Amino acid sequence: MRWNAGRLRLAAATLAFGLTAGPQANAETPPPPPRAPAVVYAKTCGYCHGQHVAPVIRGRAIPTEMTTAIVRRGQRAMPAFRPTEISNAELGALAAWLKAAKADPKEHDQ
Ligand code: HEC
Repeated sequence: MRWNAGRLRLAAATLAFGLTAGPQANAETPPPPPRAPAVVYAKTCGYCHGQHVAPVIRGRAIPTEMTTAIVRRGQRAMPAFRPTEISNAELGALAAWLKAAKADPKEHDQ
């Protein structure tokens, strides 16, 4: 087999493709970015809390450890939420947000 210019270009292109496209093609899809605490609250907590179903939890400076523990374990009528539903990063941010959150006059207790 003789190496002419065309063959060399093809070999170089194949090598370059293997180096650039190869690792990317095998890379795993990155996990979705964490959702903002207000979004998680509105979607996952707010339809019980403040809606006559569960106690108001905004504006009470609830300690972060209490929120994370109750969300993971559940408490009586409240279901537990797994890391596949609320990631650890989202829960940490949610607990800090909740502790600092002001009361919303539109929300009502149980
Ligand atoms: C299906 C309804 C429901 C959902 C959804 C829900 N909760 Fe609850 N939660 C409750 C109920 C009911 C209680 C009161 C439990 C009890 O009787 O001790 C409670 C209690 C709590 C408490 C303790 C409040 C207190 O006064 O002692 C915290 C903190 C809390 N929930 C946080 C959350 C967060 C954060 C979310 C969202 C990730 C959430 N909850 C989602 C129903 C719910």
